[in-house]
Amino acid sequence: MSSSLEIPDDEKGYDLDLFCIPKHYENDLERVFIPHGLIMDRTERLARDIMRDLGEHHIVALCVLKGGYKFFADLLDYIKALNRNSDKSVPLTVDFIRLKSYSNDECTNSVKVIGGDELSALSGKDIVETGKTMQTLLSILNGYNPKMVKVVSLLVKRTPRSSGYRPDYIGFEIPDKFVVGYALDYNEYFRDLSHICVMSEQGKQKYKV
Ligand code: IMP
Ligand code: MG
Repeated sequence: MSSSLEIPDDEKGYDLDLFCIPKHYENDLERVFIPHGLIMDRTERLARDIMRDLGEHHIVALCVLKGGYKFFADLLDYIKALNRNSDKSVPLTVDFIRLKSYSNDECTNSVKVIGGDELSALSGKDIVETGKTMQTLLSILNGYNPKMVKVVSLLVKRTPRSSGYRPDYIGFEIPDKFVVGYALDYNEYFRDLSHICVMSEQGKQKYKV
């Protein structure tokens, strides 16, 4: 089973005042849950694990937008650094796909797929909650008969709603709370926040649709 950094249910996170938070979100957040630096350090290690396992193959990296864009870009930067600095290196090509399933902090029952032309090998994703979004995407990808598909997700949520699906590579396993930042949104807000945070009640009300 894929290993991950497990954040326990009773993790309190950190006081906002200990970190730099954009002024416009100051009152909309409760706590910093995963600081940006920790995300980067964990991502660096995922890049190494991926290259160890897939270092012989040409990789088509498929980014699942919008929530996966930060993780995708940072993960690829670390993979590129490995490519520059080791005896072995592999060509990387990129593609982007957009999936949409959420409104407020509730999952809607449809998954929409937009874009993507050359679909295949490595998918970079923001978060797996029930696993439904990823399973839908995987069944679409399999229709293209790829040689191999590996899924990398920064976060996996421990929730009773889970379908049991687990990505091949996981950054963090988190408790069942709604988190924002590092490209994860609440109705399109908070993508412009570096840390992964938990919203305040005021934030939820302010950006509700
Ligand atoms: P799933 O289909 O239930 O696995 O939902 C995955 C998708 O729901 C992710 O790609 C996100 O877009 C969204 N999502 C689930 N949990 C969160 C969260 O805590 N914060 C922000 N978006 C979330
Ligand atoms: Mg979203």
